[in-house]
Amino acid sequence: MNNFTFYNPVKILFGKGQISAIAKEIPQGARIMVTYGGGSIKRNGVYDQVMEALKDFYVLEFSDIEPNPHYETLMQAVDIAKRQQIDFFLAVGGGSVIDGTKFIVAAMEFEGEDPWDMMTKRTPVKKAVPFGTVLTLPATGSEMNSGSVVTRVSTKEKLAFGSPLTFPKFSVLDPEATFTLPVRQICNGVVDAFTHVLEQYLTYPVNAPLQDRMAEAVLLTLKEEGPKAVQNPQDYDTMANFMWAATMALNGVIRPGVPTDWSTHYIAHELTALHGIDHARTLAIVLPSLLRYKSEQKKEKLLQYGSRVWGVNSGTEDERLEATVEATIAFFESLGIQTKLSDYEVGEDTIDTIIERFEARGVKDLGERADIQIADVRQILTMSL
Ligand code: NZQ
Ligand code: ZN
Repeated sequence: MNNFTFYNPVKILFGKGQISAIAKEIPQGARIMVTYGGGSIKRNGVYDQVMEALKDFYVLEFSDIEPNPHYETLMQAVDIAKRQQIDFFLAVGGGSVIDGTKFIVAAMEFEGEDPWDMMTKRTPVKKAVPFGTVLTLPATGSEMNSGSVVTRVSTKEKLAFGSPLTFPKFSVLDPEATFTLPVRQICNGVVDAFTHVLEQYLTYPVNAPLQDRMAEAVLLTLKEEGPKAVQNPQDYDTMANFMWAATMALNGVIRPGVPTDWSTHYIAHELTALHGIDHARTLAIVLPSLLRYKSEQKKEKLLQYGSRVWGVNSGTEDERLEATVEATIAFFESLGIQTKLSDYEVGEDTIDTIIERFEARGVKDLGERADIQIADVRQILTMSL
């Protein structure tokens, strides 16, 4: 097992009715900005519960944070929040609202010229305004991690940043808040969370059986509960299990001491930036090709995953590797998520654009062995055509 430091200070308030408990988690007298998206929270009662819980605070609202949150929108929130001396934020929504709020809280205290430098120049966050979250979409794990992904419309860039200062102070996970999710978003959430686990698991063995089995537990839970959630999105227990599994997929708990390979996410973000394809769908396009392209280097873990998660136990090694990738594709497709670029009417010209952008950005050394270079990215994407 590799050396590691583990840190996760997020307090989780899980279960029905927990929104009412947030007032106790926010400093008395705080001036709060509640951030949210396009209005789903107004249609499912979450907004009313939040406002009731915050009735003794000064509250300002900032709405219309879009999916794949825009830098341009978030900077407007920063401007308003500074003028109104906001000192606590509450993000109510899915990964986009939570990520957007992480950007806002860091940008509020940013001392340089442009907070976008946190993405492009890796300027470290030195200070951030505290915030909590109320999650309405199990998928990203953003409610219990410190990462954030923001899109800059003017340059069509979708980039990430993170800091120990951008962990939420608390997150409410009430499964009832998910009852209004459209099937499309449930399917996206399952595939996103599933991929998060695979990127921390399908690398090479470092003799970490506990981390392996914890990763497999999350995968098996998503495999079982995901389709149930699609069938019955208002079943409390199903949504509770799905919600906690998605959080566990990317809250750091399965990550200590093992290598990780975030190249699928890194490459896939380009497809959202350029074509607006849902995040999870971009992962489903890139991951199978990446696994095939790197099957030799990832062989041991791929075979273990195939056996323990999909029951792939017969055939030659090559046959089992292919059957494992096929099982993963079949799972994604059973959720209505297509896995080819052509399914999204994206062609070779987009691959050229991504390669040019990676060259301009100096991208190199992706993957757990730092051996995925730009030429490899071209091959991987070409395999997804
Ligand atoms: O905007 P509203 O009206 O709220 O509607 C949203 C949005 O249209 C809707 N929705 C959310 N909860 C709902 C609901 N509709 C009905 N009922 C509910 N309970 O769902 C739509 C999508 O929401 P969004 O927040 O965009 O989805 P998701 O949670 O999948 O977040 C995706 C974003 O997170 C980033 C992605 O790149 C993408 O920008 N990621 C963040 C990560 C992190 N911070 O760790 C990791 C991930 O890999 C990912 O990159
Ligand atoms: Zn993701």
